Amino acid sequence: MSDQGQDNPERPHVTDGIREYDNPLPRWWLGLFIFCIIYGLIYLLYFHIGDGTSLEENMNADMIAVKARTQTESPEGSEEGSPSGEDQASLAKHMQDESVIAAGKVHYDTYCSPCHRPDLGGLIGPNLVDDHWLHGCTPEAIMKVVDEGVPEKGMASWGPILGKKKITEVVAYILSMQGSEPPEPKEKQGVRCP
Ligand code: HEC
Repeated sequence: MSDQGQDNPERPHVTDGIREYDNPLPRWWLGLFIFCIIYGLIYLLYFHIGDGTSLEENMNADMIAVKARTQTESPEGSEEGSPSGEDQASLAKHMQDESVIAAGKVHYDTYCSPCHRPDLGGLIGPNLVDDHWLHGCTPEAIMKVVDEGVPEKGMASWGPILGKKKITEVVAYILSMQGSEPPEPKEKQGVRCP
């Protein structure tokens, strides 16, 4: 406040008869202003150019941690029909179960159909019922890509959102629909499989 007042020179302009002194900006204000610029630069360099973790990455890591914790805290919860821990043969058998497939269709229609089309013919995401696959066609490979996603290509990691049981169900549904030849499918992507 001390550097404000009539000791300072007057600004040359007059507006409606109002004149003002050429008071310098308060030091605390100027300091804060410069601090914000420096903070912004460091933020930009660290989070956008350097390797700082983004909010989205933090969120994903937290979701995985929460899921891991709830699974260890309530093992009985994860057991209701969940194939976790089962070997491949019983997983395949589990996937042929009509009720598992029906549950999978509900998840598919809710979460996946906007991108892969209700008839699985492909739209933003690839056709899921042709003989070409980008990430492999075995049940394990499909489970993996649904679980982990391909975030850079627009396919989310569904693991933290749906959990293992629902992913198994939705993959069972996809497998049950193989060879269903929907009209006007998206062009084949990836390599022929099997
Ligand atoms: C926002 C759009 C979007 C949604 C929603 C979506 N996907 Fe995808 N999906 C994609 C894209 C894009 C790819 C291709 C990724 C690539 O190019 O590697 C893909 C790839 C896949 C693949 C691998 C296909 C291959 O050829 O190997 C499977 C399987 C799959 N998605 C299943 C699902 C399931 C199951 C769901 C729902 C739980 C789902 N997707 C929801 C966009 C989506």
